[in-house]
Amino acid sequence: MAEATEAPTAPAAQEQNVNPWSVSGEVDKDGKVKPINYDKLVDQFGTKLIDEALLERFERVTGHKPHRFLRRKIVFSHRDLEVILDKYEKKEPFFIYTGRGPSSTVMHIGHMVPFELTKWLSDVFEVPLVVMLTDDEKYLIAKSDREIDEFEHFGRENAKDIIACGFDPERTFIFSDYGYMGGEFYKNVTRIAKRINRSTADACFGFDTSTNIGKIHFAAIQAAPSFASSFPEVFGSDRTRTSNIPCLIPCAIDQDPYFRLTRDVASQLRYAKPSLIHARFLDALQGPGSKMSASIEASAILVGDTPKQILKKINLYAFSGGQPTLEEHREKGGDPEVDVPFQYLKFFLEDDEELEQIRQDYRSGKMLTGEIKKRCADEVTKFCLAFQERRAKVTDEVLDRYMVPRPLICRGISSDTLG
Ligand code: TYM
Ligand code: TRP
Repeated sequence: MAEATEAPTAPAAQEQNVNPWSVSGEVDKDGKVKPINYDKLVDQFGTKLIDEALLERFERVTGHKPHRFLRRKIVFSHRDLEVILDKYEKKEPFFIYTGRGPSSTVMHIGHMVPFELTKWLSDVFEVPLVVMLTDDEKYLIAKSDREIDEFEHFGRENAKDIIACGFDPERTFIFSDYGYMGGEFYKNVTRIAKRINRSTADACFGFDTSTNIGKIHFAAIQAAPSFASSFPEVFGSDRTRTSNIPCLIPCAIDQDPYFRLTRDVASQLRYAKPSLIHARFLDALQGPGSKMSASIEASAILVGDTPKQILKKINLYAFSGGQPTLEEHREKGGDPEVDVPFQYLKFFLEDDEELEQIRQDYRSGKMLTGEIKKRCADEVTKFCLAFQERRAKVTDEVLDRYMVPRPLICRGISSDTLG
């Protein structure tokens, strides 16, 4: 992002901070929050940018034009994506792993980014997908005194939203930690936990002596599904075979710390290292510098919002890169790079040419703030209504079928690889 690379003039009052539990941009000495600097994250986390050469190879190997998230660098970073392409080329097995922390019944349109990406990848590769619902994590970190069964309930409701993204039931296993963890899965959890010491975990996640031990231990739980041997019902129970099956983890960049640790431990356990593909955040309505959060009403558009609510939220709260008066706007034009309606169009509008036209028209002042807000609301509404139509069909019975541990279909790979 262009605005992210400008040289800092004065020392920051508060550095940018991105971890699995909170995301905030650098704050300057006047208290102004800057957009998240994604290039800096790539340096700090030690990941790689996804470049044109990698996208070309992706297209060559899979025969699919990269998803708009990839074309527009919304999915911008990776670890060892080449390894997965190699496996795909050689028709060797791999799987996809992603997850969701069920902190409430509602999900927002930002959460749909990694799930839409995951759905697309699972269709392109036609490999098994496991989806983890971390009801235990959300219980462990909650400041409220909610009981465990509430988080289990949130997990089931969230899973219905996830299914509504269109995942193929023959290839998708969804599980909750409270429901599934035991047996081979739990053995891997302890193998991992034994190999991560406090100082490594503290440095990676910023834990301190006030952090409860459950939250610390949880790092091993989120790591375990990276290994095929955690799922004997899906991949068979021959560990010499499953230890060579790697996974690809689509997520937003805040989840990377877990998997940086997981990759270190994988080598020690002689398990295949997970590969990752990272998305940037969908900005909060207030603007770049934070991520959309379902618990702050003015920050988020929820997937269940009505067309009226969507338009109202965008008109009332969406940060504008436009000029304060009509005359000034016509003269100077708007700034699409910080304009939230433009950013959302970048995430949700499929047509590249139309997006480029909107960028130019907004920049030149031909398109007004009210107009871009309306265009944005139309596109987000289209997305949410289509989602709601699919969601209405996801009953408890449908959900239960996804949650049965079972072998998953993997086209292009002979069944004898399953063992
Ligand atoms: P959770 O529930 O916080 O988020 C679920 C997924 O959504 C991503 N995300 C976003 N993406 C774009 N824009 C946003 N504003 C935004 N907010 C959240 C998250 O990065 C994540 O990919 N501990 C995890 C659950 C988990 C998991 C995983 C996630 C367990 N295993 C493996 C990814 C991969 C959590 O609480 O996610
Ligand atoms: N091909 C197997 C089937 O259709 C499933 C399978 C085999 C598989 N090998 C795999 C799934 C490796 C994931 C990874 O039953």
